[in-house]
Amino acid sequence: MRSVEWYKDKGRPGVVRMIDQRLLPVEFRLLELEEPEDVARAIRDMAVRGAPAIGATAGFGMALAAHRSQAGGRDGLLRDLEQAAAALLATRPTAVNLTWAVERVLERAADEQDVERVRAVALEEAQSIADEDVAVNRRLGQTGAAIVPEGATILHHCNTGALATVDYGTALGVIRAAHEAGKRIHVLVDETRPRLQGARLTAWELQQAEIPFTLIADNAAGHFMRTGQVEVVLVGADRVAANGDVANKIGTYKLAVVAKENGVPFYPCVPTSTIDLSTPTGDDIPIEERPSEEITGISFLGRQVVPEGARVANPAFDVTPHRYVTGIVTENGIAYPPFATSLRQVMEASFDS
Ligand code: MRU
Repeated sequence: MRSVEWYKDKGRPGVVRMIDQRLLPVEFRLLELEEPEDVARAIRDMAVRGAPAIGATAGFGMALAAHRSQAGGRDGLLRDLEQAAAALLATRPTAVNLTWAVERVLERAADEQDVERVRAVALEEAQSIADEDVAVNRRLGQTGAAIVPEGATILHHCNTGALATVDYGTALGVIRAAHEAGKRIHVLVDETRPRLQGARLTAWELQQAEIPFTLIADNAAGHFMRTGQVEVVLVGADRVAANGDVANKIGTYKLAVVAKENGVPFYPCVPTSTIDLSTPTGDDIPIEERPSEEITGISFLGRQVVPEGARVANPAFDVTPHRYVTGIVTENGIAYPPFATSLRQVMEASFDS
């Protein structure tokens, strides 16, 4: 099934249904969210996570707001949508897909004059965002598979798979496509402290897809690169700035620097909805600070492992300067340096298609 979808049972109003990623791989549970505030909370608390999945969820959150609004007139309904948008945008600041999706729904809704039409187009647009994401990932996977050498060991950080998107995945989609094309590949899976998206989610997805992998501690990645055991690093991103700087899960920067030092190519794999030409450089990307409990213990398992009162910093993302980036894989081709030009080209291609 898709990581997130609009679900309508006979006789009941529609809900936003999603896989609760906090519980995986121990438990597979679906959440059915009935109010837009529940959707905002699910994004903030990371029941759903991964930039494209966050975007699609926010789109459905807007559709839910349109359907639940009690407003009798168009203007009141649009005000309710603006309010829902503000709540959704306040959840996680780094992934630009969130803003992108919310604005898409708002713009479509604002074009309509009648309450019922506003409701209908809000859901239609949210559904298009979700459907497009799946199609885009498949194209991205095909494009990226070409850069994966036969017999390659691929280093991967965080989770960029079907769970992090609506389906299929970005960097993990490239890995999936290379595997489906019959390439013999092996994935080194970074555990991805503190929330263990690699150990919990990527390992789970690779196991189901029967793609060979080895789980490693984040701190081991440098060792594997220095000893010549990695052919390519593939990661996702939450935002790519106009100059090619890339914000992704904390720890990505360190990987990129070590990759360059050891001559290992480093490719972020992103849908064009993750490219933000209005953000000039990585320094302009807001970096989310997450709760200290994610560090002080195996927090989401509810057990503290550090001394009481220890001071904690927990940035959820870091920025990799573009000089460490070999190329950026998108559904419209691979952007190579100079990124100021090539990113514009892949974006323009998405307006053509
Ligand atoms: O904090 P998360 O789990 O939402 O972070 C996810 C990542 O950093 C992913 O690499 C990124 O969103 C791309 S997912 C296709």
